[in-house]
Amino acid sequence: MKVAVLRETNPNESRVGLVPEGVKFLVKKEIQVVVEKDAGLDAGFLDAMYEAEGASIAPDAASALAGADVVAKVLPPTVSEVGILEKGHILVCSLQPSANLDVVRALKDAGITTMALDLMPRITRAQTMDILSSQATVAGYKAVLLGANAIGKFLPMLTTAAGTIRPAKTLVLGAGVAGLQALATFRRLGARMEAFDVRPVVKEQVESLGAKFLEMELSAELEDEAGYAKELTEDQHQKELELIAGSIKDADVVVTTAQIPGRKAPILITREMVESMKPGSAIVDLASESGGNCELTKAGETVVHNGVMVLGPVNLPASMPYHASQMFSKNLVTFVMEMVNKEDGSIHLNWENEVLDGVCLTFQNEVRHGPTKEALGAA
Ligand SMILES: NC(=O)c1ccc[n+]([C@@H]2O[C@H](COP(=O)([O-])OP(=O)(O)OC[C@H]3O[C@@H](n4cnc5c(N)ncnc54)[C@H](O)[C@@H]3O)[C@@H](O)[C@H]2O)c1
Repeated sequence: MKVAVLRETNPNESRVGLVPEGVKFLVKKEIQVVVEKDAGLDAGFLDAMYEAEGASIAPDAASALAGADVVAKVLPPTVSEVGILEKGHILVCSLQPSANLDVVRALKDAGITTMALDLMPRITRAQTMDILSSQATVAGYKAVLLGANAIGKFLPMLTTAAGTIRPAKTLVLGAGVAGLQALATFRRLGARMEAFDVRPVVKEQVESLGAKFLEMELSAELEDEAGYAKELTEDQHQKELELIAGSIKDADVVVTTAQIPGRKAPILITREMVESMKPGSAIVDLASESGGNCELTKAGETVVHNGVMVLGPVNLPASMPYHASQMFSKNLVTFVMEMVNKEDGSIHLNWENEVLDGVCLTFQNEVRHGPTKEALGAA
């Protein structure tokens, strides 16, 4: 069995799908690895480091792909990149199918088997393969650093000969993987923290990180079977906005992460709320790519309104490519082993394995993922 690692072609992507540590693991399992020249360079992994772990280096993508069974990448390929893949290749990467229907169609037509790691079922057994979680951890951490960097204040309390500095107040909206990592990072920096999420089950996790959980009476159960938040009713949403308005006015840094799978992100911060905040404070909106949690957010930009900075960073994991790649690679390697028959080392796609079944987007010129198939039919 042979795994090819491609260099990312998007100029804004600095991660790599497999790091040298992943090569070491696969080579020990008698899996060959070939890495396209400079694939890990932007993330801090040199070709020589891959070679030291037993990989060979190919001068370009086409030679890396020759004879490969599995193709490892971070971002979805472009339609033209699909052109260099061959029928029978198993592509393993992040796909964001609803935003890339033309790519999905090209993959299906080309007979590529596509394993979309972002479709990983959110089950305990799959946690080690969950790229959404590993990359959200990076984003939550980095969001705090961006916020801390933007404000002209310390986050911790300081007692100095030049006076006492009060700790900054921070607020985290949405306490999923990214939000909890943001709280853990604010805590390391000594800030005061408040947090809110519509799923009451996270209260305990928020409090265990030393933050105050903002409570609201919610009449209905707001978590679905998969553990995701459901959309609020208009009345619930209004109550939520009132709760947030009460906390946000004296916050120095706000990190927002609230998402509803498959929908536009809910607006949690209105223009009026931004106007109630102190000049010099900052909002870091991690939902900027799905529409934003703040009414003023612009993806990829910093909007300054009445002195309040609204940051809408995109693809934050790529801004910390070393560890983001290391975590992505660990997820990917664990997933690749799900496809390997333990007895003879061959590839065996067992659809009774819920991980393989959940992640497989295209197979034998068919789209296997129901919602994407429907969306393609409608497109
Ligand atoms: N393999 C696993 O078992 C696994 C791995 C990761 C996450 N999970 C679970 O998946 C679920 C989603 O986690 P995620 O980090 O991907 O979440 P996400 O990125 O989909 O959303 C972030 C957070 O925003 C919250 N949110 C949504 N609408 C909101 C609103 N109107 N106001 C305030 N908050 C709102 C959500 O409840 C969630 O906590 C969680 O239950 C998490 O524990 C399970």
